[in-house]
Amino acid sequence: MVIRDPDPRDEAAWRRLWSGYTEFYQVDVPEAVTALTWSRILDPDGPVFARIAEMDGKIAGFAISTLHPSTWTAGPNCYLEDLFVDQNVRGHGVGGALIDDLLRLAEKKGWDRLYWHTDAGNETARALYDRYTKADNFVRYRIPLSDYIEWGNSERDAIG
Ligand SMILES: CC(C)(COP(=O)(O)OP(=O)(O)OC[C@H]1O[C@@H](n2cnc3c(N)ncnc32)[C@H](O)[C@@H]1OP(=O)(O)O)[C@@H](O)C(=O)NCCC(=O)NCCS
Repeated sequence: MVIRDPDPRDEAAWRRLWSGYTEFYQVDVPEAVTALTWSRILDPDGPVFARIAEMDGKIAGFAISTLHPSTWTAGPNCYLEDLFVDQNVRGHGVGGALIDDLLRLAEKKGWDRLYWHTDAGNETARALYDRYTKADNFVRYRIPLSDYIEWGNSERDAIG
């Protein structure tokens, strides 16, 4: 298995896996956003980056992360947003290899923290993650801002 940076020739294979990933989460990511994500992945100057796992010449999985500054640490933090392995090759160490790779990069590049979220009920993923660290007790609050703006408008309309 090889873990490497993606290049433009990987687009079709990445898109196949990406659609498996969005199906797994039952989300409909608009085509324009998928295209933007791929272009961000390929932009060497942006904060988003991906690592690709290749097995026998085929793309078997990906990790997509964003590097950002933090108020709590001097060095960058790496947020692993998307981790996905082709279902035909799960259980053979690809997911673990993608996380190990990020830990190696963190050490090499001086990042201060690697973190990610998962669904509390995603037992398969958590069995893997529990090998690295214990989950903390933080709970996520997330507001799709278009809903919030609509809500704000309707509140204002109601108030007059
Ligand atoms: C989570 C995921 C990335 C793990 O990838 P993977 O390549 O199978 O991971 P690894 O082979 O390195 O580790 C697999 C571990 O998961 C657990 N596991 C439990 N059931 C499993 C199954 N049916 N298949 C594979 N792994 C399973 C085991 O703990 C296994 O460790 P073991 O090999 O020591 O038994 C992969 O299952 C996946 O893409 N799932 C769908 C998307 C997803 O949930 N992504 C994470 C979102 S945060």
